[in-house]
Amino acid sequence: MNACIRAVVRYGMAAGVDVLGIRRGFAGLINNDVIEMDSRAVGGIIRFGGTVLMSARALEFKTEAGQQRALETLNAWGVEGMVVIGGDGSLNGALALHEHGVPVIGVPASIDNDIGCTEMSIGVDTALNTILDAVDKIKDTASAHQRAFVIEVMGRSHGYLALMAGVAGGAELIVLPTSKIDQSVISKDVRAAFLRGKPHFIIIVAEGAKTENGETVTPIISRIIEEAGHEPRITVLGHVQRGGSPTAFDRLLGTRFGAAAVDRLLAGESGKMTCLQSDRIITVDLKEALGTTPQLRSDILRLAEPLAM
Ligand code: F6P
Repeated sequence: MNACIRAVVRYGMAAGVDVLGIRRGFAGLINNDVIEMDSRAVGGIIRFGGTVLMSARALEFKTEAGQQRALETLNAWGVEGMVVIGGDGSLNGALALHEHGVPVIGVPASIDNDIGCTEMSIGVDTALNTILDAVDKIKDTASAHQRAFVIEVMGRSHGYLALMAGVAGGAELIVLPTSKIDQSVISKDVRAAFLRGKPHFIIIVAEGAKTENGETVTPIISRIIEEAGHEPRITVLGHVQRGGSPTAFDRLLGTRFGAAAVDRLLAGESGKMTCLQSDRIITVDLKEALGTTPQLRSDILRLAEPLAM
């Protein structure tokens, strides 16, 4: 997100625009937590994770009263256009502001890659690389001890990170939110893998893979491994996936999205979201993006099983 903020500030200033930063997201908009930005304010931030403007959950913004207070802040500062960077909640907030007449362009940022119409959101690639680094490290122990490891990754109800990390990380099994858990199949697979001479059995589980009671399937998978006669270990990667220095891909994506958002505002557009499609930055209606459920790539899905052999 810092790469995007930096691009909005510098590209906007180069176009003759005065740029403000709203701290702590919509909470800051409601509480007038606004700062003037210049090129020095964003110096050096491109290599840091998170956001220098900070973020917050703003339940009040979901109410009409909260949105009116936000509009008062925007009017007081004479704001003529906004770039809103974030996931589902932030982009829904962006749509609300657009519907109140504020020119807004949304930029998708969520490690879950669960925003419709864009192939990638900001943060996904960095999170994926963090997961791969962890999987590689875990494999050292797994191989030394011929163990099975159950590694749970983030992604909310979307299985993008699990699928991509599983294929790129050489997992023996990938459990997605849509996967059916069949004890006999998993037991057979884990036994067969070690008999084939595999030194480890790595299972990547999407946090969105849940039982009917809404509990994660991670402990269930671990129990299946144990009952199949192998010693499992569980690692829940958690919030390490959300931080760290962004990859080159993410820095460029954030930069391109930020500059495109400025261009679109200057062209008089509003209610749109920047998207990456076939390496081009385009915009679609925020409503369309928010109403589209992204699908996992079938060309990658079909690779998971044969490559685990
Ligand atoms: O949406 C991003 C995400 O990291 C999800 O993958 C995860 O389920 C959730 O946020 C964690 O949220 P919090 O930081 O509020 O615990």
